[in-house]
Amino acid sequence: MTNKVMHLSMAVVSIFIVSCNRGTQANDLAIQKATTENYSGKPISHTFDAAIDSLISQMTLEEKSGMLHGTSMFNTEGVARLGIPELKMADGPLGVREEISRDSWAPAGLDTDFATYYPAGAGLSATWNPALAYTFGTSVGEESRARDKDVLLSPAINIIRTPLGGRTYEYFTEDPYLNKKIAVPFIVGLQDNDVAACVKHYAANNQETNRDFVDVQIDERTLREIYLPVFEAAVSEAKAYSMMGAYNKFRGEYLCENDHMLNEVLRGEWGFEGLVISDWNAVHTSVNSLKSGLDIEMGTPKPFNEFFLADPLIDSVKAGKISEAEIDKHVKRILQLMYTLKIMGGAERVKGSINTEAHFKDAYDIASESVVLLKNENNLLPINASEISTIAVIGANATKKNALGGFGAGVKTKREVTPLEGLKNRLSQSVKINYAEGYQERYAPKIEAKFGDVTHERAETIDELDPQLVDEAINAAKNSDFTIIFAGSNRDFETEASDRANLDLPFGQGELIEKVLAVNPNTIVVMIAGAPFDITSIKEKSSALIYSWFNGSEGGNALADVLLGNINPSGKLPWTMPKNLQDSPAHATNSFPGDKVVSYDEGILVGYRWFDTKKIDPLYPFGYGLSYTTFDIKNARADKKDPYLKNETIYISVDVENTGKMDGKEVVQLYTTKKDSDVERAAQELKGFEKVFVKVGQTTTVTLALPVKELAYYDVDQKDWIVESGTYNLKIGNSSRAIKTDLSITIQ
Ligand code: BGC
Repeated sequence: MTNKVMHLSMAVVSIFIVSCNRGTQANDLAIQKATTENYSGKPISHTFDAAIDSLISQMTLEEKSGMLHGTSMFNTEGVARLGIPELKMADGPLGVREEISRDSWAPAGLDTDFATYYPAGAGLSATWNPALAYTFGTSVGEESRARDKDVLLSPAINIIRTPLGGRTYEYFTEDPYLNKKIAVPFIVGLQDNDVAACVKHYAANNQETNRDFVDVQIDERTLREIYLPVFEAAVSEAKAYSMMGAYNKFRGEYLCENDHMLNEVLRGEWGFEGLVISDWNAVHTSVNSLKSGLDIEMGTPKPFNEFFLADPLIDSVKAGKISEAEIDKHVKRILQLMYTLKIMGGAERVKGSINTEAHFKDAYDIASESVVLLKNENNLLPINASEISTIAVIGANATKKNALGGFGAGVKTKREVTPLEGLKNRLSQSVKINYAEGYQERYAPKIEAKFGDVTHERAETIDELDPQLVDEAINAAKNSDFTIIFAGSNRDFETEASDRANLDLPFGQGELIEKVLAVNPNTIVVMIAGAPFDITSIKEKSSALIYSWFNGSEGGNALADVLLGNINPSGKLPWTMPKNLQDSPAHATNSFPGDKVVSYDEGILVGYRWFDTKKIDPLYPFGYGLSYTTFDIKNARADKKDPYLKNETIYISVDVENTGKMDGKEVVQLYTTKKDSDVERAAQELKGFEKVFVKVGQTTTVTLALPVKELAYYDVDQKDWIVESGTYNLKIGNSSRAIKTDLSITIQ
């Protein structure tokens, strides 16, 4: 993967690590000097602007309009006589989507469109490893090129406001800092391969219920501090080449024709030079959309010439409602992107590769760092394979595949290793596996969802167990040394276009798990899901509990390696797991899902910010995840004596000692607190983290770089970020609720 190697010289990580033996102090000053910048992307090229102007001067109005809208499901029109090709797009969060027919959602039915299935967003963010986000980006970028794509509709990065969100599995996190630290390297990696990211969904797209029309109301400070930072970082740091306008409205205007959000904020304030591409069927007008900042209209089947930016736009120009110069502005942006991506201009473009062992290995690496160990009483895990002869594997999720499924975009893949296959691959033949399905994925005929006017109907599950399947599962558990239950959900149940009604485990699994736990206390429960579920009683009754994800082509192998101790788990929850739905902020404030309007009444207190400020205990906190070893995080110290100036960076060092019996990775997390603030503040906010590998008995010094500007709040009156002077508490630990060492610093 040559691009990866090339990139490392450009991307200097913001944290520098020195390993030393127990007790030895590293030379912090030397470390601080080495710390500089983050992953950064390359801007849109202007080298060919004159050539572009000349091309545009030769184009007819019809040709220009053809470039501004879909003329097939995922492509826009080219202008063959001028050497301008179609712009080719594909969905991408889980990998490059299979080919869709040109004029319907039906699969094209090819045998050339297989791709690697990568872990879904929640899995990637649970690694807390930006380097793996870069790996993901560049790997899927190479696959995009091998499939001859120009724009990958990825990453999907809206904040997880409610655990019920249909796209929680696809999005990254509830925290704006973690969000941008994962999104930026992903985008840079992707675009290093001459493919444009299409960052979605801009913006405030945090629920599926009523997504086609709901008007999202967020106060300005919350918008700036919680919902926009990842998009701003995508523009200013990663230099994302395109953004997808969301379906919903924001403050009364649809996002695809929201002059404030597109022209003023995105382009005006952040300097975005790329394309705004609509979500599929998210455009409502011709003239207003274009003037408000939309560049390309994509959509679902209707005659392509009826799209708003097709014949209706041409008519509007002829009627004098919009000038041809305005059209030219958008066409020019598209051509600038085409030259930047080397689609035009003759420079050699990345050719890419697909379905390679190297890419499956990338998917494996991500999956293996994403698995979260929630509970491990009596060191039930890892399983010592040499001491067991029989193992019961229970649950439909042991064999369920998730590359395809549900309403959203998936991947057609030649490889998806299920949990059961992973165990078979990793266990010796002498271990007998007793598999029992236990529960079945069953749905009632579709009925209307219980609340509001949902965009699409949500399927209701059948939660009654089949007694025969339960008997089989209990017998398997009784007759085995060890039992693993693979439970949770899947991508038919957690899906785009509808939100879940509650946190209940579907298909009667809760009852099944209790029955199995009663006959075999040596039972490990593995949840495979993309979002929080109510697992309170499972937590109480089981000794070992793991959370895994829709985890890509190699997900089953990675999971087996964690269960068997070949991999020491290092994933951390990217969101809060509530005890009760009503504890989480959107529900506590009764402000989900709204009807025509949804008002985010919890304000800045999203996710753990709410739980920590209101002193509500979650079931598992943000940033939580155990290891098979133990770590001591200690000796927080700053690089100089106070005070710090507002343009400085604070370097905080801590020592991380592996005090257990296995080498492993720990995520050092930095949370900041400002007491006596002039404004409302969350109890604490994540402002730095680093994943670090420490060998048994060794101590590693980790230095986290905290630019003082990260401590700012957004001042609505001044329309600016303000760093308050005074004292801040910097707290370092291995979850939001496990602070191990802290210090105070003063800002002048
Ligand atoms: C989704 C987008 C997706 C598009 C094209 C829409 O329904 O919201 O994320 O890229 O469809 O498949």
